[in-house]
Amino acid sequence: MTKHTRPVPQPGIMDIELYQGGAAKIDGVANSVKLSSNENPLGPSEAAIKAYGRAGHELHRYPNTDHKSLRAAIGEVHGLDPDRIICGVGSDEIISFLCQAYAGPRDEVIYTEHGFSMYKISARAAGATPVCVPELDRTVDVAQILKAVTKKTRLVFIANPANPTSTMVGKKALTHLAKELPDNVVLVLDGAYAEYVDGFDGGASLVGQFPNVVMTRTFSKIYGLGGLRIGWGYASKEIIDVLNRIRGPFNLSTTQLDVAEAAVRDQAHVEKCRNENARLRTWLAEALAEHGVPSDTSCANFVLARFHDEDEASAVDEHLKAQGIIVRKVGGYGLPHCLRITIGDEPSVRRVAHLIGEFKGSLRDG
Ligand SMILES: Cc1ncc(COP(=O)(O)O)c(C=O)c1O
Repeated sequence: MTKHTRPVPQPGIMDIELYQGGAAKIDGVANSVKLSSNENPLGPSEAAIKAYGRAGHELHRYPNTDHKSLRAAIGEVHGLDPDRIICGVGSDEIISFLCQAYAGPRDEVIYTEHGFSMYKISARAAGATPVCVPELDRTVDVAQILKAVTKKTRLVFIANPANPTSTMVGKKALTHLAKELPDNVVLVLDGAYAEYVDGFDGGASLVGQFPNVVMTRTFSKIYGLGGLRIGWGYASKEIIDVLNRIRGPFNLSTTQLDVAEAAVRDQAHVEKCRNENARLRTWLAEALAEHGVPSDTSCANFVLARFHDEDEASAVDEHLKAQGIIVRKVGGYGLPHCLRITIGDEPSVRRVAHLIGEFKGSLRDG
């Protein structure tokens, strides 16, 4: 027997690159503005905040394990079968369950060139091999995904709208992908930003059509509850049953469950946030374009601003930081010449546009 001198982690674990969250502070700056984590500047609904207060009186109680009431509320609001819903600690946990349940050593998990980093991390954590597929002009390319499928493929992850690119793939392309994928491959449609697209079902109808399609959603973005960590998934009963077997029975606290339920029932707040986001997003994209900074039409709560090259993106980042504004560098996503800017409140959006204009103007003048 091989004698190890120390504990050895499972294969793949040491290949995981640590997740880089958006910076929250700038050294020496008291009131920095954080536009680096796609948080909702309007915060959660009043109803959710009240539910949070009430939950404080029940902290000695264990939560329920079946999440029945939250699943029923989600089902009601979205017109979905609550028995096909699973709730998790952020949609990150659902992503992790999917990898744990369906992929292991020698299996492949497909994600795309600029895809959300948790797909790769969760695949590796499960011992599987992440396979990166090229995108076309910062947009998921279904043909490339199908080309990359092998006998070892177990999962395909697509965020729609995508982070950090803000682009979307249309339903026709996704239906084609779902049809062409082998039946044993799980197609995950990550709808973390789905609510920002008016009338978009996040992929729910495809889940209805194909037993191997899963949709994931979150309370962290438009619901303004990133700090509380709640997400959910929708899939066939068979897949939900599999995922529930690896879910910790008390993965969500009563506080998380009650607040999420109050939040999902307040769709007026969601609509207000969607409209405000759309208004400021259009304004920001146009202001940036006027300063010579292009971006793809955003379908989410951020804009991916493109600069000449990595040096210019870094210089703009420093210029913003010097003025107390934090945006997200996305070199780790294969976009070193870009900065991802969250749609904050109106003063922040105007300020970020003004400062980038100032930077570009000083380049022209200098
Ligand atoms: C595309 C995408 N999916 C999933 C998540 C995870 O969200 P959460 O775990 O907060 O639900 C994020 C968060 O940034 C995201 O951008």
